Amino acid sequence: MIDAFKIKALLENNSIDIRVFDVIDSTNTYLKQRPSLPITPVACIAETQTQGRGRFERNWHSPKDENIYLSLSYCFNKSLNALSGLSLVVGLSVCKAIEVVCQLPLPFRVKWPNDIMVNQKKLGGILIEVYQTQAACCQVIIGIGLNINMEKARDTEILQAWTSLRLLTQTSHDRNRLCAKLLDILTQDLSHFEQNGFGYFNEAWHQKDMLYNQEITLLFHETLFKGIGAGVNEQGHLLLNMPNHSQQAFVSGETSLLK
Ligand code: BTN
Repeated sequence: MIDAFKIKALLENNSIDIRVFDVIDSTNTYLKQRPSLPITPVACIAETQTQGRGRFERNWHSPKDENIYLSLSYCFNKSLNALSGLSLVVGLSVCKAIEVVCQLPLPFRVKWPNDIMVNQKKLGGILIEVYQTQAACCQVIIGIGLNINMEKARDTEILQAWTSLRLLTQTSHDRNRLCAKLLDILTQDLSHFEQNGFGYFNEAWHQKDMLYNQEITLLFHETLFKGIGAGVNEQGHLLLNMPNHSQQAFVSGETSLLK
């Protein structure tokens, strides 16, 4: 069971306000609908979501008592422009937290911008939403969905290849420990990002980049591009080496490996 007291006891960063729910529509929506959020971080975690949301307006399958559905509101003293690369940093933090807590038998990677992947199957996803911006202040909501102890789902519930920590390790995992580690590492990384920008994470990204040197497709505003992954630029935009030998940078889109 997710337990706010256990998470707080395990947390090193005690400035985070933790709110745990049995059932909620969406942890991101909950934080987004608060009339005012403190500038200190607030985390919302739920056992299940009735309207869990993914990227590209998809549903996020959220069965009860099995996985992690966690959102964090975080206030940056930066303008929105200065936050490019944030979604990649969050993907790296999630990987780090899982690596610290669980012994995984297989290496896992991030598929740009931030799908957590093992063996080309999705272990987790991230949805970042901007809540409020003023001149030099930006409140973001970082939503993280991680498949932890889920063993089964119908094809109609999850439309892509997926896995869970339980399926990978044949054992169940303590979600409270994972949530605490995730929040500690995430808030630490967000503060590094705020001070140093994406450049600080460049090398870590390179180590985890699933698309590097791979033939991939990218769907960008209904146009399909093909190319070879060439890492990311200083803003965290995806670089593709195109068939005509040019290099193009993409700010968003959906990527897949060409088989
Ligand atoms: C994706 O499409 O890969 C992103 C999925 C993000 C899901 C998480 S679960 C917690 C938070 N609440 C939501 O409604 N969505 C995010």
